[in-house]
Amino acid sequence: MDAALRADLIQVAYLVAAFCFILGLRWLSSPRTARKGNLVAAVGMAIALVATVADASVETYVWIALAAVVGGAVGAIVARRVQMTAMPQLVALLNGLGGGAAALIALAEYHRESASHAGESLPPVLAVGVMFSAIVGSISFSGSIVAFAKLQELLPGRPITWPGQKALNAIGAAVALGLAVYASFDIADPLLWVAVAIALVLGTAAVLPIGGADMPVVIAFLNACTGLAAAATGFMLDNTLLIIAGTLVGASGTLLTKLMGDAMNRSLANVLFGAFGGGGAAQATGASGEALPVLEISPSDLAAQLVYARRVSIVPGYGLAVAQAQHPVRELADLLGERGVQVSFAIHPVAGRMPGHMNVLLAEADVPYDQLLEMEEANPEFPQTDVVLVIGANDVVNPAARDDPSSPLHGMPILEVDRAETVIVFKRSMATGFAGIENLLFHDPKTRMLFGDARKSLVQLVQEVQAV
Ligand code: TAP
Repeated sequence: MDAALRADLIQVAYLVAAFCFILGLRWLSSPRTARKGNLVAAVGMAIALVATVADASVETYVWIALAAVVGGAVGAIVARRVQMTAMPQLVALLNGLGGGAAALIALAEYHRESASHAGESLPPVLAVGVMFSAIVGSISFSGSIVAFAKLQELLPGRPITWPGQKALNAIGAAVALGLAVYASFDIADPLLWVAVAIALVLGTAAVLPIGGADMPVVIAFLNACTGLAAAATGFMLDNTLLIIAGTLVGASGTLLTKLMGDAMNRSLANVLFGAFGGGGAAQATGASGEALPVLEISPSDLAAQLVYARRVSIVPGYGLAVAQAQHPVRELADLLGERGVQVSFAIHPVAGRMPGHMNVLLAEADVPYDQLLEMEEANPEFPQTDVVLVIGANDVVNPAARDDPSSPLHGMPILEVDRAETVIVFKRSMATGFAGIENLLFHDPKTRMLFGDARKSLVQLVQEVQAV
């Protein structure tokens, strides 16, 4: 094929792929269209891959094919096996690989330049592209690996801190940047390697002091960094699609970081430098230090209460996902609906372990979308609600976030379930939630605890409701 025609066709394919990515992101923003969005983005990626390997400058297909087969096989196996609750770890790992890839491409390009133009300076666009991808990509790589290790419990989830941490990090960042700038004026291979090594240490040192509870926000932030590193790689390689795709990832990662931060009432600086989750748990004791009472309820008593209720609200949380209790919860909602009870689900934006976790889970059980209420819609309804079923949720219903200025959770918007007439909490023990903070809702006189695995409790409850 004529070289000019081939180049034009590749650009057209890139445009189509970019369109697919944008449409995919648009559709991913609603649970109704998310599946379509995922599919169209995957089609866009396939078009992008074919167009890229069709480039005339590709000299051999052997390595590309080998990498595609190995990478594709690993990706397919991991995607099929991973549990929904382990998705944040997987995203962290994949994000780290993206950042690492950007850094490796920068090193390869720099190596090529140093072989032919040693001692000269890089053209400005190339210099900015190479340095940005190398430094930010490396930080994103090592930071994401630490985030993965914390979530996978390979490293302790609590903040790991040491004296002079922030100052040391700032010095490291300044040295890495200085070296990178110097390396663009005087091309010499080892300089960039040293800058990359410092950036790798920096990524590790920046994420270690962040508590496990903040990892999803950190991952979204690192995801934005990887996107920008990929966009810089696009400038370096003069690849339009990489610039567009990287910018899309950068922008969506930034927005996601902001949305999650807002939902927890935390600034990005507080997440990155606040060493949140290191303690400060309120003690579940009364004014004179006595242990507070905990009242329990049996499935049969609860069943009787539910069928005579007018309004029931269900608050799902991380424990619902762990117990895989989405199907019995839907069965319960249907049964109550058939008996004339008005049932809704109240969704907190950071319930679970990743954005949209509860929506995905409930969609899996075909819970109708019109039964799902967002926090802002659900809160005014609680005072008129007879029974709230809090299933495997903890932090997102903790009244300390609203009432106790000394609580580390203070300021985080919550689902105000304590304003309802009765609250039933499904969980296995009195253990704390992800933030490690005691929840006084469990000791409220209007609260009853239904201890046990959420799935088992719900299956039993469904049987009891059927028997009433
Ligand atoms: P959590 O506060 O983590 O509480 C989950 C509760 O589920 C635990 O108290 C646990 O108690 C219970 N549980 C676990 N397995 C269970 C099972 N098999 N059956 C019944 N209960 C079970 O969850 P949440 O309220 O959804 O809050 C989410 C937390 O993650 C918040 O702190 C939020 O800030 C943080 N976070 C979320 C995100 C996103 S995007 N979702 C991002 C960043 C941070 P037992 O062990 O006693 O059963």
